[in-house]
Amino acid sequence: MPATAPPCALVIFGASGDLAQRKLIPAIYEMARENLFNDHSYIVGFARSPMTDEQYRKESEDAVNKFARTKPVDQAILRKLISRMHYFQGADYGSVESHQKLAEKLTELDAKYGNPGKNRLFYLSTPPNTFEPIITRLGERAVDPTFNPEARFKRLIIEKPFGYDLASARELNKLIHKYFDETQVFRIDHYLGKETVQNLMVMRFANSIFEPIWNYKYIDHVQITVSESLGVGSRGGYYDKSGALRDMVQNHIFQLMALVAMEPPAALDAVSIRDEKTKVYKSIRPIRPDQVDHSTVRGQYGPGEHANQKTLGYLKEKDVPAESRTETFAALKLYIDNWRWSGMPFYLRTGKFLDKKVSEVAVRFRSPPLTLFQKQCETPVYPNDLIIRIQPEEGISWRLNGKVPGGAMNIKPVELDFLYKTAFNVEPPEAYERLIFDAMAGDQTLFIRGDEAEAAWAVIDPIEQGWKESTRPPDLYTPGSWGPKRSIDLIEHDGRRWLHNSDGEAEPIVACSL
Ligand code: BG6
Repeated sequence: MPATAPPCALVIFGASGDLAQRKLIPAIYEMARENLFNDHSYIVGFARSPMTDEQYRKESEDAVNKFARTKPVDQAILRKLISRMHYFQGADYGSVESHQKLAEKLTELDAKYGNPGKNRLFYLSTPPNTFEPIITRLGERAVDPTFNPEARFKRLIIEKPFGYDLASARELNKLIHKYFDETQVFRIDHYLGKETVQNLMVMRFANSIFEPIWNYKYIDHVQITVSESLGVGSRGGYYDKSGALRDMVQNHIFQLMALVAMEPPAALDAVSIRDEKTKVYKSIRPIRPDQVDHSTVRGQYGPGEHANQKTLGYLKEKDVPAESRTETFAALKLYIDNWRWSGMPFYLRTGKFLDKKVSEVAVRFRSPPLTLFQKQCETPVYPNDLIIRIQPEEGISWRLNGKVPGGAMNIKPVELDFLYKTAFNVEPPEAYERLIFDAMAGDQTLFIRGDEAEAAWAVIDPIEQGWKESTRPPDLYTPGSWGPKRSIDLIEHDGRRWLHNSDGEAEPIVACSL
């Protein structure tokens, strides 16, 4: 990473929320530890509940001690950081008076800490229904004819979900663009901050072996699994209005798919990369509402126990209506209709309460020509896989066929492994460390552009509509499984299989007699 970020006031709306405490403040501590957080920057936590600066500092200190990525926590660095944290109680997120007072407070703190440029980074870590009032108030104040974007910055970081569907995402973009230029807006998808996700681009474009074979002629299909081993926990209220498709597919999984599928950008900058990703979304063949039963599967977890968590089922979770049809699992089969991917399927799946937590892209290459081995081998030789593991065990593996030592000509898949931890002897940083730094430095490459978010929603909307109109309820699945049976059928009916399956992952030895 480059040197220290420029100084700024970082205002966190939703300061006492879970995300701020578990992720944002610990990430800022890591930045401070690595000298990336400017000594003239300071933090103001904005929330509605009453709290003193001391209480806010204590809460943040505890959060760092508990959630910091690197241990032991350097108490001197932590104390210095904490001393630059202030709490601001707003009457309401949209209160004109509160925003007026906030502006006065920031002016006072600018002088105290030496933030002469009056740079501002506003982080919206609040529920989506607060975006409109916060952006409006900030926007009204941002309209300033003397503002010189060359000399200082005023930026927004907006947490997901960015919209609920295409119409609401468009509305939100319209509101933002009434007051802010797109260069001031940083829409977060924390998956883009994950080291292995960024490495996907490096792997594809900094290695010349991939480009010639990176297309439907050599690749059989791509499958992306983002599974979680826990249920919705205490987030039932939010989750029930969202579901797996909106919560995970529209953003995280689509981002992974776009990085795998996009054309090489003209340069590794925000404009070029985001142009290419947007083109991918626009090339996805729409799944019409009447096709959802054919190309998608939605599921909901039933009662069971897994990963030391018991559940009476999704419908019995806190704040979930008893008759809810919200999906906790989604699987899709998509096609990207362009020259590179024409006719080749992308299988995507995600779900709560599945067998284990895995985020992984598997690129399965076509099998070697059958004639070569068919006479000698019992079964077809296994195809090659390139597996990009986002988490856990961040890294990349190649599955190749090797000869089992001995007199017989037996073939077995073997793995060439690149593991982040061992290759670089470091734990990759947390996504938020990178993203907050980039927003301070003004680099938008790892953030979602407005039109990109809309293009992704345009793919999701007809599926949601189809599910709403369908008489088929979500398929029930057992916690700890790999989702509903129909999601296994979705890929197996095409003669393929998910890499992670309840019947194990070990590939059989292929016996050949030469
Ligand atoms: C969030 C979703 O965006 O991502 C959560 O809202 C999900 O439902 C989380 O649990 C998964 O993130 P990660 O980094 O743990 O894979």
